[in-house]
Amino acid sequence: MSNHRSIGVLILAAGKGTRMKSDLPKVLQPILGEPLLFYPLQAVHNAGLSDVAVVIGHGGTNVESYLSAACPNVCSIWQHEQLGTGHAVQVAREWWSSFSDVLVIPGDAPLLQSDSLSLLVRTHLESSSLCSFASFHAKNPAGYGRVTRTNGAISIIEEKDATPEIKKITEVNSGIYLFNTLALASHIDSLANENAQKEYYLPDVVGLLSDQKQHVEAVCFDNEEDFQGVNSPVQLAAVTAIVRKRIVHYWMELGVKCSSPDTVFIGPRVSFKGDVWIDPFVQLYGSTEVGEGSHIGSHTILRDTQIGQFVDIIHFVSIQSSCVEDHATIGPFAFIRDNACVGEKAFVGKFVEIKKSTIGSGSKVPHLSYIGDAQIGCDTNIGAGTITCNYDGTNKNPTHIGNRCFVGSDTMLVAPVSLGDNSFTAAGSVITQDVPEGALAVARARQKNVEDWVVRRQGNRKEGGKE
Ligand code: UD1
Ligand code: MG
Repeated sequence: MSNHRSIGVLILAAGKGTRMKSDLPKVLQPILGEPLLFYPLQAVHNAGLSDVAVVIGHGGTNVESYLSAACPNVCSIWQHEQLGTGHAVQVAREWWSSFSDVLVIPGDAPLLQSDSLSLLVRTHLESSSLCSFASFHAKNPAGYGRVTRTNGAISIIEEKDATPEIKKITEVNSGIYLFNTLALASHIDSLANENAQKEYYLPDVVGLLSDQKQHVEAVCFDNEEDFQGVNSPVQLAAVTAIVRKRIVHYWMELGVKCSSPDTVFIGPRVSFKGDVWIDPFVQLYGSTEVGEGSHIGSHTILRDTQIGQFVDIIHFVSIQSSCVEDHATIGPFAFIRDNACVGEKAFVGKFVEIKKSTIGSGSKVPHLSYIGDAQIGCDTNIGAGTITCNYDGTNKNPTHIGNRCFVGSDTMLVAPVSLGDNSFTAAGSVITQDVPEGALAVARARQKNVEDWVVRRQGNRKEGGKE
């Protein structure tokens, strides 16, 4: 029987999230660099469920653009007016009608684990239930719908509609349900909004089915933490702390070393290969990858960055959307961004900014430099204080520096400009013309020494009676 069943997953994410007090929709609030919605989507994906739609509404245009960029296979369904969770499921009826069963999950439950979803699906498919939903015993049930069981009938009463007696019940609704779609279709329009919130409640479908002696299953889980919803900034922080701990723990089990794991933040899309060392107060986000044997020093922030093998990031380094190849050394105090690439065994040192530039293998930019829109070849040395003057007020212009060059300290490279292989620039030069291969460019005023100037100055002052 289960072979003929198909499951669609409907994630409810149209709500306003009033309690977040934010212009950003609740499901886009960030947790370790990813929107909240990323997490339920990941749990669904890991449970092997691939037909997914998200009901969007409040801030829906932003949610839709996130979805089309991050998961193009996921459908967005608009709920223009947010009249409650039952209404959200009504507006998606056309989508879920084509499946035998629909798994409904709230978009604001980022700790949800794929194992719980798989267990709920298995229990539902093995029983003849028309609706199976996940419940759990909450230490503090306030805010949740309470599960009541009277003479075999099950129903869910929202906190705001509950009598003091019902509020004492600790078994609560997780907001995750698996419905037989025919049963859902025949009850979804019977919902009324005569309740404290004047909303159409999806959990009322459970009561309607149960009243008609239809088989409803409350699957009670004992992992309360996993079902925690996010409704407020305090809950967002609490959930972030749990996700953070889970991810750091996961990678440490695979060999990543953190001397102070409680201070390290790793996003859910970050990956490591083998033996990586992470010092205290490091943050790694986005699609960052770190290769075998690399060391990430304290107070480093990496976002969407590829780090090769045996790279040494000393400390206080920020790298965004860039790559650092094997055996390179970075920092301290470096900022590397916008598709920059630091080659093998290269060195980017103290107080250096590299933007949209390539630093060839073995090349060095050791101190106090800005390198923007530049291509630097291999084994080139960039002297302290060198700057690519890439911006003329209108356009960004390129600088090309060849292999084995020596750029003297404090050279201003006024782009567009090129330095041929094996060329030198004298310290303090302002280079405005291309430098041919093998040449030395000197572009500064010639030094003039005025002999005995100091003695004569002192004599003049005495005569003037100033001393
Ligand atoms: C809901 C349940 C409650 C359960 C709790 C678990 C209802 C009426 N109550 O309460 O029984 O214990 O979840 O966390 O369902 N949404 C829409 N459209 C709407 C309204 C909400 O898409 O019109 C979405 C929200 O974006 C959210 C989810 O549905 O992701 C749940 O809504 P929320 O307002 O957070 O419901 P709770 O009060 O938490
Ligand atoms: Mg909620």
